[in-house]
Amino acid sequence: MRAAFASRFDDADPLAALTVGERPEPTHPADDWVTVQLRATSLNHHDLWSLRGVGLTEAQLPMILGCDAVGVDPEGNQVVVYPVVVTRGDPRGVSILSEHFPGTLAERVAVPRSNLVPLPDGMAATDAACLPTAWLTAWRMLTTKGRVEDADSVLVQGAGGGVATAAVALAVAMGKRVYATSRDAIKRERITALGATAVEPGARLPERVDVVIETVGAATFEHSMKSAAPMARIVVSGATAGHEPSVNLRRIFAMQLEILGTSMGTPGELYELLAFCADSDVRPVVDSVVPFSRVEDAFARLHSGDAFGKVVVDHTA
Ligand SMILES: NC(=O)c1ccc[n+]([C@@H]2O[C@H](COP(=O)([O-])OP(=O)(O)OC[C@H]3O[C@@H](n4cnc5c(N)ncnc54)[C@H](OP(=O)(O)O)[C@@H]3O)[C@@H](O)[C@H]2O)c1
Repeated sequence: MRAAFASRFDDADPLAALTVGERPEPTHPADDWVTVQLRATSLNHHDLWSLRGVGLTEAQLPMILGCDAVGVDPEGNQVVVYPVVVTRGDPRGVSILSEHFPGTLAERVAVPRSNLVPLPDGMAATDAACLPTAWLTAWRMLTTKGRVEDADSVLVQGAGGGVATAAVALAVAMGKRVYATSRDAIKRERITALGATAVEPGARLPERVDVVIETVGAATFEHSMKSAAPMARIVVSGATAGHEPSVNLRRIFAMQLEILGTSMGTPGELYELLAFCADSDVRPVVDSVVPFSRVEDAFARLHSGDAFGKVVVDHTA
């Protein structure tokens, strides 16, 4: 079957490590696994990390990329794939598709049957394909970790990103005052259209916020700390621009800040997110939909840093 996979690692030029070609059909590591025929996937920064060699070893190559998926199960049902799989030998106890098990940028993927969630009526496959990774991460950052129900205001760093646009759209839909930083004036305009107050990175906010959504890392972390109100939660799920910021411990204890790490979400949280989107007008912010035949263009778009929202791959086009 056709697939997009990491054939080697290239830290400086991850796109050069991407290969599109034939891979063997999925196999089932256990009896409860099924094969899903894919309809749509979306890219994540995770796919670029994999091409750089972050989280994979040479022994795992070639590895089919892709964490997100919407497809058709063996009984013909449209399903959203929850991408976290119990993985013996991984220190986390789990892994995300494309880490230990082949990912979703292919014609078909194998997953445990319990990872399949019904696609809500009326939701497009290309929208739902944005939800299982970036949107699920943003949902958990806001709800379970950030306890946003007790918050009036939220700051989202690096607002053009997949997780970040999700956090803005969700927090606005929850009725919060949302501030978002972006280095790019056009992205700031677009984030304003989503209902946030957009500012340049590092700019002083009109108020200190109760929840900070951090996926950028070293480039923005000091601003996140300075923008946090007493008792605020700074929730971290990524470090695109460096993972070793300096942290002012005095500010943490004096302001009683919480710095919380999180990764992905639970199946229950994915159900909650799908229900929230299905019951409201909230839909993923989609930068572009690219046919699988041009999957390299989709990677180039993500890598350019120009994308606003999710880059989706349509496997049916
Ligand atoms: N832990 C998890 O479960 C999980 C799940 C999903 C994602 N992640 C992580 O979260 C991060 C974001 O993922 P994504 O898929 O949303 O990525 P993405 O769509 O590629 O977004 C990255 C965003 O980061 C900002 N950025 C990049 N370099 C920057 C710099 N030097 N200074 C300031 N801002 C910078 C940019 O915002 P502007 O251009 O608007 O400034 C960009 O839009 C990644 O590190 C990813 O690995 C983790």
